[in-house]
Amino acid sequence: MKKLLVAGLLVLAINGNALAQEAGDWKIRSGPYVVDPKSDNNDTVNVDAGAALGINFTYFFNENWAFEVLAATPFSHDINLNDGGAEVGETKHLPPTFSLQYHFQLGNAFKPYVGLGVNYTLFFDEELSGPLAGADLSLDNSFGLAAQLGADYDLNDRWSLGANVRWIDIDAEAEVNGVGIGDVEVDPIVYGITLGYRF
Ligand code: NI
Repeated sequence: MKKLLVAGLLVLAINGNALAQEAGDWKIRSGPYVVDPKSDNNDTVNVDAGAALGINFTYFFNENWAFEVLAATPFSHDINLNDGGAEVGETKHLPPTFSLQYHFQLGNAFKPYVGLGVNYTLFFDEELSGPLAGADLSLDNSFGLAAQLGADYDLNDRWSLGANVRWIDIDAEAEVNGVGIGDVEVDPIVYGITLGYRF
């Protein structure tokens, strides 16, 4: 009986240790992400929300500090005229984001974290349609700050479910037929739901 108890405690101790992130650990997370631009993001046009499959890689320097790279398949956004709301085109973008994260250790399966970093957004395949068909739209790439809040819930010592929300400063100069129509202040809130794997 005493042996069994000791064995049981030993298993608990091993599992308890296995749940904590350690220096040198990696975590990969993937799932659906939504990029929801702020409303009124340009005087003339409005860039709507888009969704994509996100994937992020996190490297733990120790149990608290980590570096994260967020990548995704391209997000596609409709562009509407502010005046009347007609759809006049679409754009795609890739928003790679690099963040330094602080992970709180609460000693249980719930793992919240905060992060701060930089984002580089590449716009491509800008296309105009409807009343603006045939015109040439271009959006400049953007470099800006990115802040995030997130949490993972450990299902076991490898797999976790997570959610994260980010604010990213994305401002892109827009031109139609080479004529500036002002900055598009995309400044989106980005939401992601992820399945994570730690190794
Ligand atoms: Ni901005």
